[in-house]
Amino acid sequence: MANTGQFGATGWTPKQIDSLKGKTYVITGANSGTGFQASRLLLAKGARVVMLNRNTSKSDIAIGQLKSEFGDTAQVSYIVMDLAVLSSVRHGAAQILSLVPHIDALICNGAIAQIAKQQLTVDGFESQLGVNHYGHFLLCGLLFDRIEQSQGRIVVVSSEGHKIGLRAIQFNDLNWDNNYHPNKVYSQSKLAQMMFAYELQKKIAVSKKPVKVYVCHPGASKTSLIRSSANIATRLSWSIMVKLGLAQSAEKGAYPEVMCATEENLKQRAYYGPTGMMNFSGPVDECKLESFVLDDDALTKLWAVSEQAVAFNWSL
Ligand SMILES: NC(=O)c1ccc[n+]([C@@H]2O[C@H](COP(=O)([O-])OP(=O)(O)OC[C@H]3O[C@@H](n4cnc5c(N)ncnc54)[C@H](OP(=O)(O)O)[C@@H]3O)[C@@H](O)[C@H]2O)c1
Repeated sequence: MANTGQFGATGWTPKQIDSLKGKTYVITGANSGTGFQASRLLLAKGARVVMLNRNTSKSDIAIGQLKSEFGDTAQVSYIVMDLAVLSSVRHGAAQILSLVPHIDALICNGAIAQIAKQQLTVDGFESQLGVNHYGHFLLCGLLFDRIEQSQGRIVVVSSEGHKIGLRAIQFNDLNWDNNYHPNKVYSQSKLAQMMFAYELQKKIAVSKKPVKVYVCHPGASKTSLIRSSANIATRLSWSIMVKLGLAQSAEKGAYPEVMCATEENLKQRAYYGPTGMMNFSGPVDECKLESFVLDDDALTKLWAVSEQAVAFNWSL
């Protein structure tokens, strides 16, 4: 069925973007996958891109590839930051604040997924919740004033996976000590990221700050997200999906986050991504936002729990 959303039959594509000269985008986990492709798409339109990556050699290779495509004058750089380590997030954010005077969008893209066995971060969090939610929660808080001064936006990259788990936050055992399950825990971490975004929208609305927050997902995209840390069943089902042609390119997977970082005419209390079969691929537009994501009590509680966990109080 043809897409009937705001961007018509083709959905949103980077053709919608005119020029991004003078704009600066900060993006986590950009040395590979959709983050790398989002960086490419933004650079292609003349933007400055600052990557927040944990691995220096992968980052050097990524920057080398981008400079060979866009020339040595391409404005792309990286700062080392490990989302799994709160002290590294604080250090990376401090560097951003000293080196990047203006942030048009902070794209929360980096993630780990379907880690086979429970692992804890150095700060004691289950690793998927720690990297995907707590790391970004702290980073956004530390950079919020700069984003506000820039009248910029925050883009949260979630996943259709937020629907496959409990459809709720397991507040009584956030580390899943008693019932660890790789997919359900990944699902919870992506749900937590969305809940953070919608709660942040509420707080911004009350304080009337000029910051926008958007949520998207990349569909099913051919990236390195499912790797050796996932169990055999997950790796096998992913490789079958890819062989069946059900996963799109990483570049197409980057469209929703680039759209949310650049497009003017979007709704905030919404969820954007590919709208084709099972939202795996297809025209990028507005997808259905499920009501369990907007449970007010859970949003408020998760915010309070997260502030305490990362020892950071937002000024909102
Ligand atoms: N691909 C899909 O089908 C799919 C589906 C739904 C949602 N998503 C979402 O799309 C986003 C991008 O993922 P992707 O598919 O492009 O996977 P990817 O190729 O594995 O990219 C993930 C990026 O996150 C980085 N990262 C992981 N842990 C990190 C940490 N502790 N600190 C900093 N960076 C870290 C990775 O860096 P390293 O290279 O150093 O590991 C990598 O650059 C994620 O939010 C993911 O949840 C993807």
